[in-house]
Amino acid sequence: MKIGLLGCGTVGGGVLKIAESREDLKVKYVLVRRERPELGSLAVYDIEKILQDPEVDTVVEVLGGIHPSFEYVSRALEAGKNLVTANKYLVAHYYRELLSLAEKKKAAFRCTAAVGGGIPWLVNLQRAARVSPMQRFYGIMNGTTNFILDSMETDGKSFSEVLATAQKLGYAEADPTADIDGLDVQRKCIISANVAFGSLLKEEEVPVAGIRCIQEPDIRAAHLHGRCCRFMATGSRTENGISAYVQPEFLPDRSLECAVRQNFNMISFETEYTGRESFYGQGAGRFPTAYNVVEDLLDIQNGTRGFYSEAGKEIPVDNESETMPYYFRTRAEDSWLEEKSMEKWADGVLTEEISVREAHRQAARLRRQDPEIFFAGVR
Ligand code: HSE
Repeated sequence: MKIGLLGCGTVGGGVLKIAESREDLKVKYVLVRRERPELGSLAVYDIEKILQDPEVDTVVEVLGGIHPSFEYVSRALEAGKNLVTANKYLVAHYYRELLSLAEKKKAAFRCTAAVGGGIPWLVNLQRAARVSPMQRFYGIMNGTTNFILDSMETDGKSFSEVLATAQKLGYAEADPTADIDGLDVQRKCIISANVAFGSLLKEEEVPVAGIRCIQEPDIRAAHLHGRCCRFMATGSRTENGISAYVQPEFLPDRSLECAVRQNFNMISFETEYTGRESFYGQGAGRFPTAYNVVEDLLDIQNGTRGFYSEAGKEIPVDNESETMPYYFRTRAEDSWLEEKSMEKWADGVLTEEISVREAHRQAARLRRQDPEIFFAGVR
């Protein structure tokens, strides 16, 4: 296999190192923006060099972002080259386009590393979904936020202190917005739902609430009621379509999720025949993520073409059928919240069971009065 590697940052560097240790994976070019003397003759600065070389059969995209990544990978697919990417933003945003281009050109398109970093999640989700309809998936898909929640609980530190540690340890980005506001997990949730249910979800269809505003009293409220707080993505089949959402949740202390510490991820699916199956490991990092990229390359080499070969469908989104009680902490005085409240939980309240759709809609409304509002689903 002759590879054109687009990008040589954290993950790309890992892919290059692993590929160099193998006879069967030859990285012929590495596309970089700036001079990288250590790459020697591998370095190229113009995508045309890779696109025009018929010897390059596979492109690995680890540039991140959606532009110019999308333009580069669509041209590579158009040229009949296989595509492996770890870029969740690109895949979540352009799933439909990439899927149909890969179909049209009979090229392989795989992105196992885009969700769960080094965990073989998507590949097993897709394999299981072939046998019987996937019923549900849920889990912790972001290491930075899990590290923050776990440290707040374990060390009693504030959100900002723990975030600074996460940045120092290299878990969180210098700009951690996508992690703490949930966009990173929303993208992973969209990709997982599309693989699990054959859907074509758009970002605006998946409500997301992050953990930016979590405070010590929220952790205490969960703890007082035998729960921990985890940042969860969920997708499920409902009578009217599929439900998909991202939010903090208070989960029973004895749940597997509460045992997930530091920056680890754990994602589970359920089918009628298997019950729950869970996948645990490092959801980020150079070599774990590069490992999944290399496994995709080897799968393609072994003849597995389409990870996503079947066309996706427009399936209605139904976040009305999913209901649970919610914890709300807000300074806003509000008749809706008063009407729904069942009991006081530390500085907040526990509502009666309400739909995911209603919880997120009302929280967005209340946020205009109180930007520091925090809410979480309660299981
Ligand atoms: N920032 C992400 C995380 C990296 O912390 O999990 C992988 O998407």
